[in-house]
Amino acid sequence: MDIPKHIAIIMDGNGRWAKERNLTRLAGHKEGIQTVKKVIEAAIKNKIPYLTLYAFSSENWNRPKDEVNGLMSLLNHFLEKELKLLIENEIQLKTIGRIHELPEKTFKCIEDAKEKTAHFDRLTLTIALNYSSQNEIVDAVKNIVKDAKKDSLDIEQLDYPKLASYLYTKDLPDPDLIIRTSGEYRLSNFLLLQSAYAEIYTSPIYWPDFNQSHFTKALTQFAQRERRFGKIS
Ligand code: FPP
Repeated sequence: MDIPKHIAIIMDGNGRWAKERNLTRLAGHKEGIQTVKKVIEAAIKNKIPYLTLYAFSSENWNRPKDEVNGLMSLLNHFLEKELKLLIENEIQLKTIGRIHELPEKTFKCIEDAKEKTAHFDRLTLTIALNYSSQNEIVDAVKNIVKDAKKDSLDIEQLDYPKLASYLYTKDLPDPDLIIRTSGEYRLSNFLLLQSAYAEIYTSPIYWPDFNQSHFTKALTQFAQRERRFGKIS
C-alpha cells in the first residue's frame, strides 16, 4: 500500500461536537486532545514519518477570550503531560507559525518540549500554532528581500525549492495527504503553497469522534488515488 510520507490534518468540529451534547466549546477541544493522541498512535503504527496538526490559526485570536485562554491552557497541559509520551515514542516536536506571539508560558513549554525531542526522528509531529499560510508567505518574502539586499541571495536564482527554504516548513517535505474532519471543504489558510499536489480527504466525522479506523480509511483512499503531478498516467 502506498503510504503518505506527510499527513497534515485540519482538526475541525470540536465546537459542534460539544454543542450537540450541551457542553462548552472548551469541552469539545478537551475531547479533541484525546483524538490527537489516538492519531499520533495511528501514525506511528502505520509508519508515517511526518504528521502536522492545525491547532490554532492566526484568525482564531478572534474567538471569545475564554475559548482562546482555554485552548492555550489545554496546550500547556498537553505539552507538560504528554512530553513523556513524546520522548518514549521518539517523537520530535516542531511548530509552524508565529509562536513568539503566544502567551509566554505556552511559548516556554513549546521551546522546552522541542529542545528535549530535537534528536528524535521516528515521527516528526508538527503543531501549527498562530499559523496562517498567508503570513508565512509574507514572512518568507520579507526575508527573501532582506537577503537579496545583503547580496546573500541572487534573486535571478530564486525558484520554488529556494522559496520553500524560507517557509516555516523548510525542514518538512510537502504534505501528501491533507485530512479535514467535520465535513467542511476548505483549506482555511493552511499550507497553501505546500499542498499544491496534496491529495485532499474530507471526513464527515467531528474531530472528537475521529478514531483510528477513520484514519485507516483515509489511508486506504489515499492508496487508491492516482497522483499525476501534472503529468499523464
Ligand atoms: C476546530 O474546531 C478546532 C480548533 C480551532 C482547535 C483544535 C485544538 C485541539 C484539538 C486541541 C489542542 C491541540 C493539540 C495539538 C494539543 P472548531 O472549534 O472550529 O469546531 P466548530 O467548527 O465545530 O465550531
